[in-house]
Amino acid sequence: MDQNPLGDDFSEDPKRPLDELCDIIVARHHAYLHRALPLIRAELARLTEPECAPARLLTDTREAFADVAHQLQGHLAKEEHVLFPALEALAKADREGGSRPALPFPTVLYPIRLMESEHARIEAAMERLRQVTHAFVAPEGASESCRHCLSELSRLDADLREHHRVESEVLFPLALELERRLP
Ligand SMILES: [Fe+2]
Ligand SMILES: [Fe+2]
Repeated sequence: MDQNPLGDDFSEDPKRPLDELCDIIVARHHAYLHRALPLIRAELARLTEPECAPARLLTDTREAFADVAHQLQGHLAKEEHVLFPALEALAKADREGGSRPALPFPTVLYPIRLMESEHARIEAAMERLRQVTHAFVAPEGASESCRHCLSELSRLDADLREHHRVESEVLFPLALELERRLP
């Protein structure tokens, strides 16, 4: 058995079936977001202005984070309930030697284009969060809680980059290629 089934190079195997790749993305990135977003929201809500001075930093950070979190929640739901089940149906058809399955859209290109445009909007919201927090660097005199919260935001930023990279550069091209290949 693989020592590290969610290891960084694990999703890059071009022969990996699409449904396994979807499972890896959900286990590695979606599960992290479902856990981390409410925790960060609660941490930000608990912080007081003197802990994260100047006051503007805290209000801007809360606002920018709320935008990222709101967009992500809608995006994850669409992937988990619409796109990934379609990709799983393609993978099943491929495995069983079947033809293109009936899907709720004429081609997976449609939801993939929508997901790509949502990635761009989420990345723009994340860029705003990066700007208002000065790239997640704690201000001088910040409390331990403020520092912890900023480090969690930095982790969110790093995870999101890898998440979008795997979807846009590995999963979506493989899905389009498989759909074209199925009779
Ligand atoms: Fe995703
Ligand atoms: Fe995505």
